[in-house]
Amino acid sequence: MNKIINGTQIANTIKEEIKQEIEAIEGKKPCLAVVMVGNDEASSIYVKNKNKACEYLGIKTDNYLLPQDTKEEELLKLIDELNNDKDVNGILVQLPLPSHIDEKKVLLNISPLKDVDGFHPYNLGMLATNSASLKSCTPSGCIELLKRYNVDIKGKNALVIGRSNIVGKPISMMLLNEDATVTTAHTKTQNLDYLTKQADIIIVAIGVANFLKPHMIKEGVVLIDVGMNRLDGKLCGDIDSSCIDKASLITPVPGGVGPMTITMLMKNCLTAYRMQNNLL
Ligand code: GUN
Repeated sequence: MNKIINGTQIANTIKEEIKQEIEAIEGKKPCLAVVMVGNDEASSIYVKNKNKACEYLGIKTDNYLLPQDTKEEELLKLIDELNNDKDVNGILVQLPLPSHIDEKKVLLNISPLKDVDGFHPYNLGMLATNSASLKSCTPSGCIELLKRYNVDIKGKNALVIGRSNIVGKPISMMLLNEDATVTTAHTKTQNLDYLTKQADIIIVAIGVANFLKPHMIKEGVVLIDVGMNRLDGKLCGDIDSSCIDKASLITPVPGGVGPMTITMLMKNCLTAYRMQNNLL
């Protein structure tokens, strides 16, 4: 059996589903406002890819490329305008922001109804109570991969390694919402090897190249790799690829979780549009 989870294929399937749903919308199509401050190279590539995906699916994009020295209040003013613009359904502020801008404050000022990244504390709270409509994209991409590969999550021991606000914490909540028994490990965790050996599903999101090794895992485990690291010029994840021998399923890097993130963002744009037009 093929053990490799094909994230590119699943992402393309979901994109076609979204495309059809957008084609069926009569009248004004969904619109995403993308805000970037400065010209960080990685951010520019992300923004370009988001624009490309929107164009393919029929989502309109409005780009706001602001200079590096943009003042916090100017950015907050723009967000306020976008919050009040009925023609804008989603607002995405590309991170990281320059250090003179308070990122938390900016995210808090995006209307939760337009928060297509799912980063707003309101949406994280909704996720905690299993009632969120807009969920953070990488975590929901991981869950979608598990579901589309018919992985049974209910009652399983799921271990999340990493506790960031944008991946580790939300994915732990999502797995709990799917009735897994969830453990969240982090840099202060003791006896990590003991926890990894108990786990039926392991999600690693720490940004340490090839961190998870075969001796740490049990036979048949499902492995999801959120890492995207560069080692000797080559892309690699947080899971050592030799773990494939013991795993029942594993995501590759690249081509696993990566392609799902933008796809789930597109899905959130459609969801935001529907919420704002009372179509949910
Ligand atoms: N920077 C890196 N990843 C992301 C993301 O998913 N959303 C936003 N807004 N910024 C990012």
